[in-house]
Amino acid sequence: MRSLVTGSAGFIGSHLVERLLEAGDEVVGIDGLVENYDLALKRARVDRQRQEARFEYVGDMLETLDLDELLEGVDRVFHLAALPGVRSSWGASFQDYASHNIYASQRLFEASLQQGVGRVVYASSSSVYGDAAQLPMRESAREKPFSPYGVTKLAAEHLARLYHRNYGLATVSMRFFTVYGPRQRPDMAIQRFLTAARDGTSIRLFGDGEQTRDFTYVADTVTALLRAAERGQEGAVYNVGGGSTVTVNQLIEAIEEVSGNRLQVEREGVQRGDVRDTCADTSLAETELGFVPETSLREGLAKHWQAVAHESTEALTSP
Ligand SMILES: NC(=O)c1ccc[n+]([C@@H]2O[C@H](COP(=O)([O-])OP(=O)(O)OC[C@H]3O[C@@H](n4cnc5c(N)ncnc54)[C@H](O)[C@@H]3O)[C@@H](O)[C@H]2O)c1
Repeated sequence: MRSLVTGSAGFIGSHLVERLLEAGDEVVGIDGLVENYDLALKRARVDRQRQEARFEYVGDMLETLDLDELLEGVDRVFHLAALPGVRSSWGASFQDYASHNIYASQRLFEASLQQGVGRVVYASSSSVYGDAAQLPMRESAREKPFSPYGVTKLAAEHLARLYHRNYGLATVSMRFFTVYGPRQRPDMAIQRFLTAARDGTSIRLFGDGEQTRDFTYVADTVTALLRAAERGQEGAVYNVGGGSTVTVNQLIEAIEEVSGNRLQVEREGVQRGDVRDTCADTSLAETELGFVPETSLREGLAKHWQAVAHESTEALTSP
C-alpha cells in the first residue's frame, strides 16, 4: 500500500506514520511545519521518519503544493493536517484556521478525486458537536460547533461528505475526542499537567474543573484510522472516543497518582469556545469498524508520564 499522511510531523500524524511503516506501507508525509508549537519537536520527528527508506517527506503547505503529482499512485490518504486548538481560533487567526482547515482540505479532496485515490480518511473532531443537548454524543445529533475551530472542522467534514455524494470519492470522517499520549501538543491539558508535575511548576485550570472530557489514547486513535481505511462506510462519520470520560478534577487526581507529585493549581475563568462536556457514543465504530478502545486512562497516563519524564528522548518514544 502507498499511503499519504498530511500533518505527518504532528502529534497524531507522527504516530500514524510509524504504524503504517511498521505495517510495510510506503508513506508520503506532508507537513508544512506550521509554527503552532515548537518546531524542534516536529523537525526531530521528520528526521527520525526519514531514516526509513519507505518514507518520503514533503515539507510544504497543502494550500500551495502540486497535489496531483504527489497523489499519483497513492492508494489511501489520511488527512490530519490542520490548525488545531479551540482557544486560539478567535480573532485575526481565524483566517489561518479557514485556510489550513477548510481550503487546504478542499484542495486535497479535489486532487484525490482527480487522481482516483481509493480512500480518504479525514481527522475531524468532537468540537463539531458543541455543547450537545444529549450525552453521549451520537453521530446522528445535530452539529452546533461552539468555537471558530469547530466551525472549520465541520466545514471540512461537509466537504468530505459532499465529495462522496456528488463524485463518489470514498471519504470517511473520524471525530476524535481529546487525544493524549506521548508527543501530545504542548498546549493540551494532559501534556501541560504532566510537565508541571515533572517540573514542580503550577498549572492553570480553566473553569471549576467539573467539566468532563472523553480522553482517547493516541494508539487507539491510530487503530481507528486504520480500521476506517480498511472498512469504513464510504461517506460515513464515526466517533472515536476512549471510553474514559472523567472530570478535569478527576484527571488532576489521576495525574498526581501516576506521577507521585502534587499539582499546584491556579484557577482561571472558563475560556470562550470551551464546551462543558464531551462523551462519545462509539457504538457505530464498534459495529461497523470493529473498533473498541483498548487503553484505559490509567494505563495511557502511565505511558504518557513515562514519555514526559524522559522528554529528551521524546522523538524516540512510541506509544
Ligand atoms: N489532538 C486532539 O486531541 C485532536 C482532537 C480532535 C481532532 N484533532 C485533529 O487531528 C488532527 C491532528 O491533530 P494534532 O493534535 O496531531 O495536531 P498537530 O498540530 O500536532 O499536527 C498537525 C500538523 O499539520 C501540519 N499542518 C497544518 N496545516 C497544514 C497545511 N495547511 N499544510 C501542511 N501541513 C499543515 C502542522 O505543521 C502540524 O505538524 C488535526 O486535524 C486536528 O484537528 C485532534
